[in-house]
Amino acid sequence: MTYENALKKLVSCGQEHLLAFYDELSDDSKAALLEQIDGTDFSIVDAFSCEEANAARGEISPLSALTVEEISEKEEEFRKAGLQAIQDGKVCAVLMAGGMGTRLGTAGPKGAYDIGITKPVYIFQRLVENLLDVARESGTWIRLFVMTSEFNDEPTRWFFEEHSYFGYRPDKVVFFKQDMAPTVGFDGKVLLERKDRISTSPNGNGGWFSSMIRAGLGSILEEEGIEWLNVFNVDNVLQRICNPEFVGATILSGCEAGAKVIRKAGPDEKVGVICKEDGRTAVVEYTEMTDEMRNAVDDSGEYLYNFGVISNYLFSFKGLMRGLDQQLPIHIARKKIACIDAEGKEVKAEEPNGCKFELFIFDLLRALEGCLPYEVVRECEFAPIKNKTGVDSLETARELCKKNGIEL
Ligand code: UTP
Repeated sequence: MTYENALKKLVSCGQEHLLAFYDELSDDSKAALLEQIDGTDFSIVDAFSCEEANAARGEISPLSALTVEEISEKEEEFRKAGLQAIQDGKVCAVLMAGGMGTRLGTAGPKGAYDIGITKPVYIFQRLVENLLDVARESGTWIRLFVMTSEFNDEPTRWFFEEHSYFGYRPDKVVFFKQDMAPTVGFDGKVLLERKDRISTSPNGNGGWFSSMIRAGLGSILEEEGIEWLNVFNVDNVLQRICNPEFVGATILSGCEAGAKVIRKAGPDEKVGVICKEDGRTAVVEYTEMTDEMRNAVDDSGEYLYNFGVISNYLFSFKGLMRGLDQQLPIHIARKKIACIDAEGKEVKAEEPNGCKFELFIFDLLRALEGCLPYEVVRECEFAPIKNKTGVDSLETARELCKKNGIEL
C-alpha cells in the first residue's frame, strides 16, 4: 500500500493520526506500518460509538438441556452415530489457543503450562491425550486445528514440535493465526504501540471461524468432507473432545450445533447460561442476568436458567458458512493498554486507558439452526485453569484430575 492510499483509508475513518510519526521512520518501518494499515479492518472501531445499541438483547427465555440421565438411556445409539461420523472423517477438532491468558500470567502460551506434580504434564498434552482416546476408540486420526495469535504462534508451534505432538500425528495438526483487532483510547482514536506499529489484540474467540476461513483452511474442510467442528478452550484439562456420544447426540438431534453444559452449582455461579433469545439459542452472561432470572424456578422448584456453558461446542460447517455473512456483536473490554502518546512517549497505564474489541464464540449460536444443550458431569469434564489460585485454578484442576484418576 502506498502512503497516499494509507492516508486516504485512515482519513475515511478518522484515524489519520496513525501516520503522525511516518516521516521519522526508516524505510523498513514505513513499509511495515503501511502493510499493517492495509491489513487492518478499522470498521470494528465503530462499535465504540454504538456500544449501548450493540449490547441490547432480545427477549430472553429459559432453555433446558438433554440431561445426563437422558443421555445415558440413549448412550449406545448416540455412540454408534458419533463413531460412524468420526470414522467417515466428518468430524474435526479446533483448539482455541489464541487468548492472552492474562489471569494465569504465564510467560508463554497457556497450553505450555506445566500442571504436573511428579512429572511434567502440559495443558496441551492433556488435551491431546483426551483426543487420542477417541482416535484409539474410533481407529481414526481426527484432524486437529490449533488457533494461535500473533503473540503466541511461534512458541506454540515450537512447543508441539519439541514434544513430538504429544503422540499425535503431526500431519494431522494444522496451526492458524487468529485475526487481530486494533485497540482504541477512550476518545475513539486507535492507539499506536510504537511509532511504526498499531496496537492490536486478538479479536476474541468468536473470531475463530472467520480467521480459519481467512487462513485458507476452508479448502481442507471441503476436500476432506468435514461436516462438524468440535471447538474447545485451551484451559479445560478434563473436557472430552470429539467424544462419539456428544457428536452422535448432536447429529441425531437435527440441530446445527451442540453445546456442552453443566448444571450450575447454584444460582449465583458466575457462568454464562444457555437460553433462548427471541426464540433462538443463545448464551446470557452472568453479568447480564437479573436477580429475578437467577432465582426463577419451575413448578418443581428447579432453576430455570440452570445450565452453564463450558465453551465446548460442535458446529455444523454448513451452518457456520452461512453465518459468516452475519456480523457478530462486538464486545468492548476496558483494559490497561501499553501504547505511546501524541508526543511519541511511552504510556505505562496504571488504570484502564483504552478498549479492546472482542467477538465471543457463543454469539455464533444465534446464526445456526438449533443447538442441543448437552449436559456433562461437572466433576468429570470441567476443570478450567483461569487463575493462579482459588476458583478455576491450577489447584482446583489438579484436584479434579486426581479424582478422575489422571496421574500428574
Ligand atoms: P478466556 O476468555 O479465558 O481468555 O479464553 P484468556 O485469554 O485465555 O485468558 P485471560 O482472560 O486473558 O486471563 C477462553 C478461550 O478462548 C481462547 C483462549 O485461548 C481460551 O481457550 N481465546 C480467547 C482465543 O483463542 N482468542 C481470543 O482472542 C480470546
